[in-house]
Amino acid sequence: MKILVIGGGGREHGLVWKIAQSPAVKKIYCAPGNAGIARQAECLSISAEDVKSLAAWAQKEKIDLTVVGPEAPLTMGIVDAFEARGLRIFGASQKAAEIEGSKFFAKDLMKKYGIPSGDFQAFEDYGAAVGYVKKAGTPIVVKADGLASGKGVILCHTLEEALAALHLIMVKKAFGVAGRRVVVEEFLQGEEASFLAFTDGETVLPLPTSQDHKAIFDHDLGPNTGGMGAYSPAPVVSDQVHRQVMEQIMIPTVRAMAQEGRKYRGVLYAGLMIKDEKAKVLEFNARFGDPETQPLLMRMKGDLVPVLKATIDGSLSSLTVELDERPAVCVVMASKGYPGPYEKGKVISGLEEAAKIGDSFVFHAGTAFKEGKIVTNGGRVLGVTAIARGIEEAIGLAYEAVEKISWDGVYYRKDIGQKTLKRGDRK
Ligand code: AMP
Ligand code: GLY
Repeated sequence: MKILVIGGGGREHGLVWKIAQSPAVKKIYCAPGNAGIARQAECLSISAEDVKSLAAWAQKEKIDLTVVGPEAPLTMGIVDAFEARGLRIFGASQKAAEIEGSKFFAKDLMKKYGIPSGDFQAFEDYGAAVGYVKKAGTPIVVKADGLASGKGVILCHTLEEALAALHLIMVKKAFGVAGRRVVVEEFLQGEEASFLAFTDGETVLPLPTSQDHKAIFDHDLGPNTGGMGAYSPAPVVSDQVHRQVMEQIMIPTVRAMAQEGRKYRGVLYAGLMIKDEKAKVLEFNARFGDPETQPLLMRMKGDLVPVLKATIDGSLSSLTVELDERPAVCVVMASKGYPGPYEKGKVISGLEEAAKIGDSFVFHAGTAFKEGKIVTNGGRVLGVTAIARGIEEAIGLAYEAVEKISWDGVYYRKDIGQKTLKRGDRK
């Protein structure tokens, strides 16, 4: 089989790494890929968002299966474009990806079908939004409706912050058309977890649970990022919570999407807030999480390719996912300044040393080649991932590899996984 992976981040390196282990695969391509992916796949200089060129290229090269990483091409209709040419592609259709592309759509769907989530109101009129926020009080959450690279969510603790958030989105139009509508939400308390599942539109096959670390600084302080580290499993998802999430969230959402004429095929990712053994949905994503995918795929035994194919073909009910019981941890190494402005082109050293550490793998995100060297090329640069008998050992191993690697301006959180250690669930 010839496989094309779309995207160039840590998640896509994870997918390429796992797909490369499949005996069915002869050749992997990645668009655009990165310096790490280039070891296992041929990288193409086509943007992940250039849907037309990607579809034309895949048809010309007779690609057997395409796997989409990021949300932007999904919401642009890449799956529909490939299918129109008779090409097999893993991911949500444009209509299904709206569950991530429009926060209003997702909230409205959950309300209509009784799927647990916080209360909300949506506004297109600035004056009405201001009036509502003044009445509702704080804390409150203000979100741009559309895609804003994870930056369109503003947690407001005071009325001033809430008014400033509305002004930023609706008057200054900081997120462009993504902020034409705002969603104002109840501020949910609790502990977060990521719940990802494969679905063919009927069967829901869950991946292991995981937990992201969204904030830039230790102890969850500072602005939110795309994710600074992750571990799996997430002990906050007890067996009881797992059951509730499947019965009240994942299965009903997949059914609801089918009922709405938006049959959902691909990975459905629910961002959850869990309190008192009950989960509510913060948001849905129509794709694999980044960095959650890196520890998740490290824990997945067996071949990923048949699961991807069964998701497309509607035959997931005949499959199971075999898991490595050991926990895995991913520590993201980032450029100084991220999630704000940062410099690129810094030479990365120590990758060979890190690669010698067993049961770990350095997934590349923002990396590139320059004059024969591997250099930084993005905000999140590497995702150093390790698996071990216990979570404490996995954390130790991941940081052991992290400490081998350096560049001018390297930054990483020092407390990835500490929350789960503190819970006392030292599995
Ligand atoms: P989202 O992109 O909607 O998941 O939001 C990004 C992050 O903002 C989440 O991971 C949460 O940490 C936080 N967040 C989003 N919505 C809420 C909410 N309603 N209550 C509390 N925190 C939230
Ligand atoms: N790690 C969060 C996300 O993929 O959206």
